[in-house]
Amino acid sequence: MAMLGSTVLRFDRLPSTNEFAREMAASGADEGIAVTAREQTAGRGRLGRTWSSPAGDGLYLSLILRPQLKPDASAVITLAAAVAVAETLKTDFQIEVDIKWPNDVLASGRKICGILIETAIEGEQLQYAVMGIGVNLAQREFPKEIRDSATSILIESGKRVAADEVLGPLLGRIESWYRLALGSPDAVIARWSELSTYAYDCAVSVETPGGVIEGLTRGLADTGALVIEEAGGRRREITSGEVRLRKAVRSQ
Ligand code: BTN
Repeated sequence: MAMLGSTVLRFDRLPSTNEFAREMAASGADEGIAVTAREQTAGRGRLGRTWSSPAGDGLYLSLILRPQLKPDASAVITLAAAVAVAETLKTDFQIEVDIKWPNDVLASGRKICGILIETAIEGEQLQYAVMGIGVNLAQREFPKEIRDSATSILIESGKRVAADEVLGPLLGRIESWYRLALGSPDAVIARWSELSTYAYDCAVSVETPGGVIEGLTRGLADTGALVIEEAGGRRREITSGEVRLRKAVRSQ
């Protein structure tokens, strides 16, 4: 089994590393191949959004994965990616981070990293997944739509860090947490819950494809879904959506 990222294909500019990696995966490329670019001209975000990807200011990484999982079980992989990024920023760059479900990594309450996992499913089996990770490295300013909600390693630590300085330690942690996601998903969920102040007792409103759900967070289900307890006591498991904090009742 090849180590994730033992082959890294580096590009100066791509529309989207996820798009490129998906095309490779669809043509049969092996698990573990990583694709990076200095700049993306059409970086993709979650929920149909774009990902601002100026040249040299971010790490733009996509990894081809071929997990032997049922499609339902793949959510834990997205949590594993967030844990890997959060641990890297904490341990190697001394940045205090939080994780907002499912996989936004925040610093000072602003987004420092976004993760987009795209999957291809055939019948009951996952064909492949592309794990796309964008880490803001060197931005001092952001486009106006995200000016108040984004941050970078430079802003948080005062240090200008090169993409490769993050890539090395990050690939090692993705390797460990991805293997755990396959064999012991409980361990990933437990670590995610330790790293996230959103896991328990936070008053949130979640915009889901089926409407807005409000309530208190009650941890993650075994599948990685976010459990919300509504005012009447009913528990809902959220598998997709955008979480917004209403009022924190617990801090870490
Ligand atoms: C999000 O919306 O939070 C997810 C952002 C994911 C961005 C990364 S950058 C590398 C990879 N290529 C893309 O086009 N998107 C992901």
